[in-house]
Amino acid sequence: MSGLFDAIRTGPPPEKEIRRVLLVGFMGSGKSTVGRLVAERLGWTFVDFDEEIEKREGRSIADIFADSGEKYFRAVESDVASEHLMRTRAVLAPGGGWAARPGRLDSLPEGTCSIWLRVGAETAVARALSDGGPRPLLQTEDPVLRAKELLTERTPHYAAADHQIETDGTPPDEIARTIVDLVN
Ligand code: S3P
Repeated sequence: MSGLFDAIRTGPPPEKEIRRVLLVGFMGSGKSTVGRLVAERLGWTFVDFDEEIEKREGRSIADIFADSGEKYFRAVESDVASEHLMRTRAVLAPGGGWAARPGRLDSLPEGTCSIWLRVGAETAVARALSDGGPRPLLQTEDPVLRAKELLTERTPHYAAADHQIETDGTPPDEIARTIVDLVN
């Protein structure tokens, strides 16, 4: 009996199987850039939650913040996340605020490998302001100061991820390779 059982149980135990990668981290940490590369290399689907929110609402993130407010945005963000969090063979990239709520990373579906892409405030702001997507939360006189404040609040929540990777000074390609190695 045990011989047959052993023969059937090939490969890693089911609870260890990675079915999806969830990239969390601050604005400008490279979730979308790295996520696309990882998905391409694994032959998985890449899902950018902000893009899904924009599709669902038929307007940009900046317009949602301006016309309906952050509270409304967070409610839509939660809905969109619940819709996509169970996807398999997927690399998921929620916006930087989603994982920064208490408990978000403690109750992920089985098979989720959560990875925190770490970034410092200066690099985050430089990247966020140059990648074309307006970030309503950084539209202040001193975006670096705002980023530092938000990072201080959010760091303990991001730190609940299974893994962390420092992105300052590391090319996206190299970060993607590290993640692919982790999954395989
Ligand atoms: C936000 C991050 C943004 C976007 C929105 C709010 C945040 O996504 O969801 O502007 O609260 O950190 P990115 O992290 O992809 O920039």
